[in-house]
Amino acid sequence: MIHPFGQTDNPQLNTDGELQHFLDTDGLSKATITHILDTADSFFNPTDGSIRKVPLLRGKAVANVFFESSTRTRSTFEVAAKRLSADVLNLDVSTSATSKGESLIDTIKNLQAMQVDMFTVRHQDSGAAHLIAQHVAPHVSVINAGDGRHAHPSQALLDMLTIRRHKPNFENLSVAIIGDILHSRVARSQIHALRTLGCEDIRIIGPKTLLPKHLEKFGTHVYDALDPALEGVDVMIALRLQKERMHDALIPSEREFFKEYGLNASRIALAKPDAIVMHPGPTNRGVEIAPDVADGEQSVILEQVNVGVALRMAVMSICLGNRQKTEGQS
Ligand code: CP
Repeated sequence: MIHPFGQTDNPQLNTDGELQHFLDTDGLSKATITHILDTADSFFNPTDGSIRKVPLLRGKAVANVFFESSTRTRSTFEVAAKRLSADVLNLDVSTSATSKGESLIDTIKNLQAMQVDMFTVRHQDSGAAHLIAQHVAPHVSVINAGDGRHAHPSQALLDMLTIRRHKPNFENLSVAIIGDILHSRVARSQIHALRTLGCEDIRIIGPKTLLPKHLEKFGTHVYDALDPALEGVDVMIALRLQKERMHDALIPSEREFFKEYGLNASRIALAKPDAIVMHPGPTNRGVEIAPDVADGEQSVILEQVNVGVALRMAVMSICLGNRQKTEGQS
């Protein structure tokens, strides 16, 4: 929200309401999200669908700093930075001085001293990216690549772009988000983005032990049985059981979870015939999704990964573009 006196209470926006960091989908306007999606679309070559290489970040340095494991997010940020012609530094946290007790902020400040212009950060603690954004120099941008169970905004927006490519009108959509919602930063970021884009039928499905309280407050419809919730939906999003964030036994077994909540062929037949199946990855086949559904005709799981490159190019180029504009004005 922008204040009448030009201040903003959203730390990812400058006083003009433009992105300077990218920390959360919560608080982003429809216009900002649409601008990010449109920018991402513009990187696709219309003739063959390839992603163009552009010089937008030439001379800039991007550091990928991942304190948690990642395949898709880290690699797509790296590919995206290279497609924008940036120099890329990937910090291997397992062999970095973090293991000798260096603090998060000292690590970031040392990398910043190497003239890094942008950090993409994944951290097991909620709020880590926000904390870093408070400590970097004014010309440096921070992109949240997933913090604890809090937010994963680039995943949510690549999911929105994937949905938009198949179903352009969010207002008419029914979207089912299924599984471990309690520990899911992806679900939280998706719900904010879907609501902002006008989606009114967001169905959240999972066992009671994996559903946060008060989900209805976020404008969602909550179900603990999967079959009735899938009736007539346009989009099905399966989520992984995030065992690394579970401290108690919250489900009887993975086999039981698959029986009650796994997306299988007979269940997806309850949705609209042209419904799409999504998963942010990593997928656990036979736990939240059957292999034939993950690989089936309705699955757009690998398209999500491809779209992720363009979406991350958009986020990085918009943040650093806004920085340059502000520097040019001062
Ligand atoms: N979707 C996602 O965040 O995957 P990774 O953990 O592989 O980055």
